[in-house]
Amino acid sequence: MAHRKTRVASFIGMALLAFGGTCAAAAKGGEARPWMNPKLSPDQRAELVLKAMTQDEKFHLIRTEFGDNQNGHTMSPGALGSAGYQPALARLGLPAIQESDAGLGVAKPLKLGATALPSGLATAASFDPAMAYAGGAMIGSEAHRRGFNVMLAGGVDLVRDPRNGRNFEYAGEDPLLAGLIVGNAIAGIQSQHLVSTIKHYALNDLETARNTLSANIDKAAARESDLLAFEIAITAGKPGSVMCSYNRVNAVYACEDDWLLNQVLKRDWHYPGFVMSDWGAVHSAAKSVLAGLDQESAGETFDQEVYFDKPLRAAVASGAVPQSRIDDMARRILRSLFAAGAIDHPATQASIDFDADRKVAQRAEEAGAVLLRNQEALLPLSATQSVAVIGGHADKGVLTGGGSSAVQSPQGNAVPGLAPTDWPGPRLYQPSAPLAAIERRARGKVDYASGDDIAAAAKLAAQAKVAVVFVEQWAAESIDAPQLTLPGKQDALVEAVAKANPHTIVVLENNGPLAMPWLNQVGAVLEAWYPGAGGGEAIARLLYGEVDPSGRLPVTWPRDESQLPRPEIPGAALTSMGQPPQGQPAQDVDYNIEGANVGYRWYQHKQREPLFPFGYGLSYTHFDYSDFKPRVEHGRITASFTVTNRGSRAGVDVPQLYVTLPGPGEVRRLAGWCRVSLKPGQSAHLVATADPRLLANFDGQGQHWQQPAGDYQLQLGHSAMSFQGEGKAALPAANWGADASPAGAPQPCVTGGNR
Ligand code: BGC
Repeated sequence: MAHRKTRVASFIGMALLAFGGTCAAAAKGGEARPWMNPKLSPDQRAELVLKAMTQDEKFHLIRTEFGDNQNGHTMSPGALGSAGYQPALARLGLPAIQESDAGLGVAKPLKLGATALPSGLATAASFDPAMAYAGGAMIGSEAHRRGFNVMLAGGVDLVRDPRNGRNFEYAGEDPLLAGLIVGNAIAGIQSQHLVSTIKHYALNDLETARNTLSANIDKAAARESDLLAFEIAITAGKPGSVMCSYNRVNAVYACEDDWLLNQVLKRDWHYPGFVMSDWGAVHSAAKSVLAGLDQESAGETFDQEVYFDKPLRAAVASGAVPQSRIDDMARRILRSLFAAGAIDHPATQASIDFDADRKVAQRAEEAGAVLLRNQEALLPLSATQSVAVIGGHADKGVLTGGGSSAVQSPQGNAVPGLAPTDWPGPRLYQPSAPLAAIERRARGKVDYASGDDIAAAAKLAAQAKVAVVFVEQWAAESIDAPQLTLPGKQDALVEAVAKANPHTIVVLENNGPLAMPWLNQVGAVLEAWYPGAGGGEAIARLLYGEVDPSGRLPVTWPRDESQLPRPEIPGAALTSMGQPPQGQPAQDVDYNIEGANVGYRWYQHKQREPLFPFGYGLSYTHFDYSDFKPRVEHGRITASFTVTNRGSRAGVDVPQLYVTLPGPGEVRRLAGWCRVSLKPGQSAHLVATADPRLLANFDGQGQHWQQPAGDYQLQLGHSAMSFQGEGKAALPAANWGADASPAGAPQPCVTGGNR
């Protein structure tokens, strides 16, 4: 990221800063504002504003400035102290643009605080689009009540590597799951009259050298993997904006990539919104604009220069950039603001019900924590047991991931002062202490040891009926984890506690998959991700069986780094902020190693057995599948089946429909799933529909999707590696153009009723 010390003087007059009231149908001087008529379509309204705009006003709209006092920047009066700001265009009745990070809650101003959702991976693990929508609506409502009308939210980069420092912001390795979860989160945010920004487009799947690396991949494989996740999320969520990423793709910077922006996004997917750059991701004026970039973000602070002012004006004057393109950029931005309701329902400061919002976050964590191991039904705990709670600052709160998405609680940081205190820190904890939540439930003795003194922790564990060890792995934007190992002496801590107490339960607060050398020595493991604002309470409710663990892994859990497509992260020796050391060329990443076979598809393709497969997760009860009947209806594959709760407790299950296309070298793909809650002994008859986008391959020569003729193998899975129900369904050959993907948001499941 380039840091400029001097601010570029704003060319906007002070009059433009003065706008503050609600939008009126007519300006004070009686000038008509026909675009304020809400009965007109967003396109019509955008067109009407555009006609009334001067060239300076258009140039005003196509760039934002940094909205905070950092990186040598002094924020403008009117900015809220967040990621991006653009003063109002009062003459036209257009409000200031106020942009806030990010997908897990309102990140800034840090001091005011907001409600933190659990990791994106937790929401994805719920396999519940409605949960994603509820979380989106909650954070969108808080953002609107803080005065924001654009959220930089909706991270859908696929997890190609468990060490990527931003995995906690994303929704896993599968394009259908990630696309539906993120699309629904975006729809939730936009229901609160904000524009939501899907990001980081595209293939920003590692942080190491992110500003320079080239993600190299065959274009057809990209369409079937990372781009498919974007396509599905955009269809489901209709985000007003797309953020192009820092990295290059096949040697071209994402924000000046005609293929990514003009051809795939705007032409093939018919995307009507605008493309904004990531902060410091613009490297040119004419080239970017002609490739499809519509708005430069905070260029005065993070780019080499403000490209979308003087250089772009010069390019228009010379004819290198046509005026029609500047109009298109402005029109797209206006259209998205109208479509989201950001102009009809201006964001204003209003009170926030943090208690109610924390419960939304808590429910997401309860649905997304994954029970990985539970020997001899060690869990759920009984209230009569004495408990030794150890480590992870469990006496104070739960961990949060770092970087621009980090959300601080309105009550402040529960564990202040831990390094790093500066970017990509501060390292934040939500004040939702698991210890207190356990104490509220246990009638037996509860003691706490920090774990700093391993011998003392083991001694405490030996005296209790059960030991619950909290371990943590802080991850953050701009840095990847060098290995899968837990930091510090936490492995030794778990081993010592497990030796002292055979009833040891490990709770993970982490970015995602990591090495667990002690796995076979402990009784139970709960993957809690970064648990969010209600995390302590959610963890205790899960441990005590007040809710059934129902999260299923949205990522494959490798045994070790050697199982990954890239055992070492390319360029791992580079500095953390993505700049190669002096004089060294940038490292590229070869994603052709796995191509479209991301995650579980890679493991099947290479016949590698991971530690835990995608889709895996235990419950306190168990489920049986029967009557599996695939068929073809109206040209679509559906499968009906019965799920029965065979245990003695109520529980939630996620039966998953996998499909393998006919043809050599094909591996299974998640094509649909259901999420169902069942009482003991109860059955449900369900129908999962295979999303047609998963039943085709992209033909790079012909530029179309090709559905091969033949028998499609269908499997009903407890995970991507464990099946109960198999069958076949025949489809004829079909193909459709890159610009003619099936319309509408896919419906992964239809419930046929409980029995
Ligand atoms: C991140 C984006 C974020 C932006 C604004 C960048 O560093 O990559 O995700 O939205 O900053 O804070």
